[in-house]
Amino acid sequence: MNSQRQVAAIDTARSPRNHESHASDSFIRVENLSYWYRDRDNKALVTPAIEDASLSIEKGEFACILGPSGCGKSTLLTVLSGLSVPQEGFVSVNGDVLYRDGTRVANEMPRCGYVFQDARLLPWRTVRQNITLALKAAGKPESEWNGIVESSLRMLRLEDYAEAWPLKLSGGQRHRVAIARALAIEPQFVLMDEPFSTLDEVTARFLRKELLDVWERTGKTIVFVTHSIREAVYLADDIFLMTKGPGKVFDKLHIDVPRPRLYEDPKLTEIEGAVVQTVLSRWGYFDPSEEGASTPASQRG
Ligand SMILES: Nc1ncnc2c1ncn2[C@@H]1O[C@H](COP(=O)(O)OP(=O)(O)O)[C@@H](O)[C@H]1O
Ligand SMILES: [Mg+2]
Repeated sequence: MNSQRQVAAIDTARSPRNHESHASDSFIRVENLSYWYRDRDNKALVTPAIEDASLSIEKGEFACILGPSGCGKSTLLTVLSGLSVPQEGFVSVNGDVLYRDGTRVANEMPRCGYVFQDARLLPWRTVRQNITLALKAAGKPESEWNGIVESSLRMLRLEDYAEAWPLKLSGGQRHRVAIARALAIEPQFVLMDEPFSTLDEVTARFLRKELLDVWERTGKTIVFVTHSIREAVYLADDIFLMTKGPGKVFDKLHIDVPRPRLYEDPKLTEIEGAVVQTVLSRWGYFDPSEEGASTPASQRG
């Protein structure tokens, strides 16, 4: 065990570890999660990516994970998706325990949709074929494929593009296909890893609004990772603020602004300003001793 890992172990020992003692079970529960990447030989744990992170997400919630580059946001999503087993901590979805203290507990991983920074469509397959590949992987019966493809494309207003090749689509359309594909498998929840960060701002704004429309119609739980404060404030019910890496969640902020929201709403600007002040010190851009710099946004008046 290297020294960084030992430090993490000492810190986390102070946190509550009785994972079964919670009175109310959230849909997604993450407790005292720590994750290290291994060296090239896949032996020693060398890179601490997440350190003692805890968060709870309710069913149907739009949750944003907000943190600086390298703080472990993508790693957290791979853990939630079942792709990576954390070395420490507890994770459950809908009451099913996925991991406990470094061990995978559930036999089956939850069915989750995943949307990445790039749309990740196979260019030699049509839009329809890209979606049916996901349906096949998810074990959906072939007789249902066409119906599901049509309805998921309709949801994203892409019904005219089923036979299109991905390279003929705009960047925004490709991302809408990626969202349609993530929803097509009828996921328990959807993980989104900075999905709009490579798009131009106008397209990104359009897609954020479209995503909120789809979220409201489907009622899916969404875990959306971003380093954009405005994006998080506009989209989220709750924002989980992470420290710089190795990340832990240091604050949860409920965005109490009614929907539908306007991206330019001055109330959102005000909240954004409070979040900026909070994260400046935590993300290492500010002297934390300066007045007000480290007051959590959730504790501001
Ligand atoms: N496959 C990997 N092998 C080793 N280190 C990694 C790997 N992926 C990410 N890391 C490291 O883990 C930390 C967290 O990375 P990541 O979860 O990608 O952060 P974020 O998504 O917040 O930018 C960073 O220090 C990164 O360099
Ligand atoms: Mg990332």
